[in-house]
Amino acid sequence: MNQASAPASSRRLPWDWFPGTIPDNVEVDPSAYLETTFCFCLYRSAAPVGVRIGRGASAYQGTMFDVGERGVVSVGEFALLHSARIICDQSIEIGDHTLISWNVVLMDTYRAPRDRLARRRLLQKAAETHALTEASPARPIRIGANVWLGFDVCVMPGVTIGEGAVIGARSAVFDDIPPYSVAVGNPARVIRRLDSPASLAADETRSEM
Ligand SMILES: CC(C)(COP(=O)(O)OP(=O)(O)OC[C@H]1O[C@@H](n2cnc3c(N)ncnc32)[C@H](O)[C@@H]1OP(=O)(O)O)[C@@H](O)C(=O)NCCC(=O)NCCS
Repeated sequence: MNQASAPASSRRLPWDWFPGTIPDNVEVDPSAYLETTFCFCLYRSAAPVGVRIGRGASAYQGTMFDVGERGVVSVGEFALLHSARIICDQSIEIGDHTLISWNVVLMDTYRAPRDRLARRRLLQKAAETHALTEASPARPIRIGANVWLGFDVCVMPGVTIGEGAVIGARSAVFDDIPPYSVAVGNPARVIRRLDSPASLAADETRSEM
């Protein structure tokens, strides 16, 4: 029996310091590694599968799945999350073999309105519920395969980061980043293009001619 199909009472991690369980609607591949169920303390998704963690993927200490009622997160094969904060009210996809460094924030929603009166109401409610429970508009985030997000990167709602891209430490990403590019800064801007598998294959073909 794997972590995903086990009954809730046995969906514990033998090495866990936190006395929690993997929520019923979270699918974890048997070969994936979760350091602690503390990462689900802010998890509220009511979707059939609210988080799916693929083969060989890992989520280390400090990672938080802050997933709202309608949120759906997928973590691709062999992706690695190191203390990432995943704030999801709609959809966040993380591609295969993607590396997410310390303190990265992926947010498909701002969770709070710009209007100060609406924010006051939200804060007053939070004093009772101890959570920002109001639903805010959300736009999906897609992180392609083979991406590397440096430490402290922040990815904003609606952003797509193309396959093989590298985002420099402490960058804030507001716009889509094309595949096989290096982007840095706040706001993140492309500073360099990387060889894609297709361009490398074309070079090899040319050199063989
Ligand atoms: C993005 C990164 C990979 C680029 O490395 P690089 O290709 O060697 O780039 P360079 O150091 O030559 O920098 C190129 C330019 O971008 C700037 N730059 C690089 N990283 C930057 C960043 N994070 N934010 C802002 N500017 C940055 C440099 O200052 C330089 O500017 P210049 O041309 O005006 O001098 C690297 O800077 C980085 O941020 N790595 C992340 C490391 C990390 O988070 N590790 C966690 C462990 S998994």
